[in-house]
Amino acid sequence: MSDKTIAALEAAQGLDDLYPIIAENRYTAGWHKARPSLWREPKTPYRPLHWRYKDAYLALDRAGEWISTELAERRNLLMFNPVGDNDYATVPSIVTAYQMIKPHEYARTHRHTPNALRLILDAKPGVYTVVNGVKLPMRAGDVLLTPNLHWHSHYNEGEHNAYWIDFLDVPLVHLLQPMFFDELPGTLQDVQSEPDPETCPFVFSRVSVLAKLAEIPDGPGGARRYVLPSEAFIPTMTLSYLHIHAGGLTPQAKTTANRIFAVTEGRGEAKVGDRNFAFERGDVFCVPSWTSYEIGALETALLFEVSDEAALRKLNLYFDRTPGSAAR
Ligand SMILES: [Fe+2]
Repeated sequence: MSDKTIAALEAAQGLDDLYPIIAENRYTAGWHKARPSLWREPKTPYRPLHWRYKDAYLALDRAGEWISTELAERRNLLMFNPVGDNDYATVPSIVTAYQMIKPHEYARTHRHTPNALRLILDAKPGVYTVVNGVKLPMRAGDVLLTPNLHWHSHYNEGEHNAYWIDFLDVPLVHLLQPMFFDELPGTLQDVQSEPDPETCPFVFSRVSVLAKLAEIPDGPGGARRYVLPSEAFIPTMTLSYLHIHAGGLTPQAKTTANRIFAVTEGRGEAKVGDRNFAFERGDVFCVPSWTSYEIGALETALLFEVSDEAALRKLNLYFDRTPGSAAR
């Protein structure tokens, strides 16, 4: 403490004199905080929101008229939650984006510490990704993982635009700050192997997911949930599929996880907090932490879900107030 501060403290006649002196020395008086730091249960400024694939599809097609191949890997539409000046994160820990790549384009090889994964919406043969030298087809309905620091690049050697949804834990990395990003000199990545995608742990094909779901009995509300065995590769996010029979409705749930749902098949309606979202194939909606939600299917629906449940469980911060839940 400087002599000036010591003199000012000694001369203080009361708390009103003390506050500016301690603030100047980068202290906040714990008994005089502007905002509380603890509260009784979770609260979030993040809102339940719905993004329609139809809108994004058209917007990406229009962008494709002007965004060149050079910027193909950035021809995406980030689904942001308008909280303060945020124009990036979908929920506090995860960002989601619709992406389109045109015929004969590729997205340059790069890697980063954030984990990434993709749900393919529309892609004809000839669209593929390469992850650390392993060539994998990008087929509609499949999920492909790009764990952290794995080199990845995407290619469209077909004749039609390809569309998918990206999910990344970038906002979590922003918070904790261990961001690293590299681009491979040159642009193309050598293909070292082209395995049967059904044998690759980074691929969850639509066919294999449907087979797994078929083994699971119906739960309450005509819904079944299959959690992908992906956590060994992506420890921050839980990936799962929710299958709901036509006319089914999931029990109302409420947990501390932030969730993003992408509709891969069917249509229905989700009630999230005080919002109602009529969803159809390709749509995305988010369920922020501690927001009640239930999902109903008008036609048999299959939804892919990405959440930060895995990260929260590791930190002992996962709480579930869904009736009948075994979690605390
Ligand atoms: Fe990437």
